[in-house]
Amino acid sequence: MKNIDSKGHVTGKSIYLDDIPTIQGTLYAAVYSSPSAHGIIQSVDYSKALALFGVEKILTFDDIKGENQIGGIFPDEELLAEKEVHFQGQPIAVVIAKSESIAFKARKLIEIDILEKEVIIDAREAQKKGQLIMPPRIFKSGNLDLAWSVCEYIFEGRASSNGQEHLYLETQGAYAIPLENGNIKISSSTQGPTAVQRAAAKVLDVGMHNIEVDVVRLGGGFGGKEDQATPWAIMAAMGVQILNKPVKLILSRMDDMKMTGKRHPYDSDYKIGLSKDFKILAYEVHFYQNAGAAADLSPAVLGRTLFHATNAYHIPNTRLTAYSCKTNLPPNTAFRGFGGPQGMFVIEAALAHAAKKLKISTHILQKKNLLKTGDEFPYGQIAEGVVLNKLWSDLDSKFDLKAVENRIHNFNQENTYSKKGFSLMPIAFGISFTKTPMNQARALVHIYSDGTVGISTGAVEMGQGVNTKMLQIAASSFGIHPNKVKLETTNTTRVANTSPTAASATADLNGKALLKACTALLERLKNSVAIKFDVNIDNVSFENDLVYIDNVPTEMTWEQLVDQAFLERVCLTENGHYATPIINFDMETQKGHPFAYHVFGLALTEVTVDCLRGTYEFDAVKIIHDFGKSMNPSVDMGQIEGGLVQGMGWMTLEEIRYNKEGRLLSNTLSAYKIPDIYAVPKEIIVYPVETEGSEMAILKSKAVGEPPLMYGIGAYFAIDKAVMAFNPNAKLEMSAPFTAEKVLMGLY
Ligand code: MTE
Ligand code: HPA
Ligand code: MOS
Repeated sequence: MKNIDSKGHVTGKSIYLDDIPTIQGTLYAAVYSSPSAHGIIQSVDYSKALALFGVEKILTFDDIKGENQIGGIFPDEELLAEKEVHFQGQPIAVVIAKSESIAFKARKLIEIDILEKEVIIDAREAQKKGQLIMPPRIFKSGNLDLAWSVCEYIFEGRASSNGQEHLYLETQGAYAIPLENGNIKISSSTQGPTAVQRAAAKVLDVGMHNIEVDVVRLGGGFGGKEDQATPWAIMAAMGVQILNKPVKLILSRMDDMKMTGKRHPYDSDYKIGLSKDFKILAYEVHFYQNAGAAADLSPAVLGRTLFHATNAYHIPNTRLTAYSCKTNLPPNTAFRGFGGPQGMFVIEAALAHAAKKLKISTHILQKKNLLKTGDEFPYGQIAEGVVLNKLWSDLDSKFDLKAVENRIHNFNQENTYSKKGFSLMPIAFGISFTKTPMNQARALVHIYSDGTVGISTGAVEMGQGVNTKMLQIAASSFGIHPNKVKLETTNTTRVANTSPTAASATADLNGKALLKACTALLERLKNSVAIKFDVNIDNVSFENDLVYIDNVPTEMTWEQLVDQAFLERVCLTENGHYATPIINFDMETQKGHPFAYHVFGLALTEVTVDCLRGTYEFDAVKIIHDFGKSMNPSVDMGQIEGGLVQGMGWMTLEEIRYNKEGRLLSNTLSAYKIPDIYAVPKEIIVYPVETEGSEMAILKSKAVGEPPLMYGIGAYFAIDKAVMAFNPNAKLEMSAPFTAEKVLMGLY
């Protein structure tokens, strides 16, 4: 089935936040933020801004009726700064005016006096000074000290990866409107409608029942709207609370880049020990996560780094220590992979380092240490359904790794100023929210009396195609044509207490809840048929909009059946609830079974480096991916291609830079480059491997949202190889992104 949104997107008819028709009298908001990365506010002068014609109100912390607090995990983040500011771009006030342009004009007239304090932008420096978001978190397995003593080879080094701007096409925003009796409806571009509702109620000092949050769809989220859509929604709602008029707040691209957090940069020290026959025996890492100025989701992101520190390899003895370091940058947040990619980059860097020293190909080490079913992860879960060795041999038989290696070797012999490199990138990514209670969802299904169906779930459509999957589940359950099914907006009054659309688990969680609701309705309808035809309920089924008995179509249509059931006063509405079974985690021992299952895959990346310019082009990326039993191959293929290219961007082109004063330098699309049509690999081949899937995956169709991003890590190590082919003595730091500038410095 095609993505149900494709027509709307291509014709421009799909509705995003800014397309929602505005109500007469709507006011517009602009956020005034700190020009300083750290300091004490001495005074703010709003008088000139307030005097501007059309300015209705400037909201500050003084206007907050409830708590000035939006921290999701720790209460350490003010909505609007009171005394101290902790990063450039931290919101201080909200100008509300008759038009957007007046609001922006007024914002420029605000004058502030700040007593500057010391600015820290580096994670290690923060850690040295004791600036931590929380105590370090440590995973341990086996006996590391003993293991070092039996290692034949030990290598130590440092690896760092930079942040990444989400660059969702639709910037952050919200539109809040007053309802009667002080109730407020917020349309928000959020992955977490309940997060917005809960935080808004707290700040406005009202009950969650007074706030309705509605989401049509997002023009991308990528994690950036899991937590960080919340402040803008609350600001708009505060405007409604005080002025009793609709308020719209949409960030400009530059405000969005400056005010919101990004993927966490990490700097890490690793030590890896191998046996004589290249088995990894021991691995120790210290991860320094740059959290920014508040916790936001950093503690959970840090956890996922630890969970994925050994990627797709079995390592029996580990000690993994992670520091979440508080700096004067915007609070960094969820980004596709959620800290997993940062952990995986380090083990890949360690293996590449070891291979260089041992003068062997990295893939020999990778293959030798691939995870197998029955192996234990450092956090105690036993790996199940591992197909990595099969994927490896499939890839080898399709593309002949030896031939690839020879072809590249020959090319490099024949060419002086053009060098090729290749890499392999296996992945193992855990599916489930690492916080067990978040793994639950609900779905509300109405069968209308004419036989059409309306579905509400907690899932937010953000381009990943989850609505299409939900529609498929309902249509196939009832055996009716998909055009009889409508996906409603995601709304907190229809589906409450939702987890955000995140962790790649949305289709699994909401799909399972939906399936339960549909199954309950089916039972009632089958019962109605069974009585009428005097047959057993098990003999009844629905297909092609008809009632079947003993797999033979009857005269009775789906519509007639629904009509009959309604007249019999059968309930045609159902709420399904699902909570993932089995999973658990003990924070005391740091052991458990946090993931429902893992997704596996393998990518082969080939690059050509121009050794005069330092530029590079990717010749091909060939992927073998474990889909389980994909319920929608074209949607899933789209996720693989998009995730891959986004990951490659993080590893190559995308360079976030702040100056020492904590000012974002890469704050425009001219200074921050993401992959475009010219930067993508010339060839992307994705071979779907159909595996058993998992009972906990929806219809055994494995989650696909985040895992493919990590194929992009292969890009880094392919470039590394090509540079070494030109200059075998290159002193290359393991520091992503591998920009053309870094390539050039490596070449010469
Ligand atoms: N794909 C598109 N087109 N747009 C997005 O914002 N977000 C990614 C991924 N794929 C995203 C996307 C992220 S970060 C996650 S966690 C998953 O989609 C969330 O959706 P899912 O749980 O339905 O896979
Ligand atoms: N993944 C994504 N988002 C999350 C998670 C997670 O594991 N935990 C909390 N938010
Ligand atoms: Mo995705 S980073 O879990 O929103």
